[in-house]
Amino acid sequence: MCLRVDDHVILGSNEPGKTVEITVDGKKIQAKEGEKILAALLANGIIVNRYTVKRKEPRGLFCGIGQCTDCAMIVNGKPNVRTCITPVKEGMVIETQHGLGKRGDIRD
Ligand code: FES
Repeated sequence: MCLRVDDHVILGSNEPGKTVEITVDGKKIQAKEGEKILAALLANGIIVNRYTVKRKEPRGLFCGIGQCTDCAMIVNGKPNVRTCITPVKEGMVIETQHGLGKRGDIRD
């Protein structure tokens, strides 16, 4: 079953792009250049993006349009990146975010 979002009513369509490699929590995965990071993660079966501060509960796709921050992850060392609106680039290094991240600007 393919979980890739190729045509989104709000975010638009993913043009067929070249396949690139990104690293997620130390594991290399395939992604389409230009698709949203979250779409690439879902297509690879990764559904948890961060863990909440107080209860350490997992969070993943919720709004899908950049409004809720449930998809926030650490991307190339930068915390609190909303992966549902951030395009994939070759060689990105993505990490699951635990708690507030380095800057601490996410609230539950
Ligand atoms: S899923 Fe809500 S901001 Fe990304």
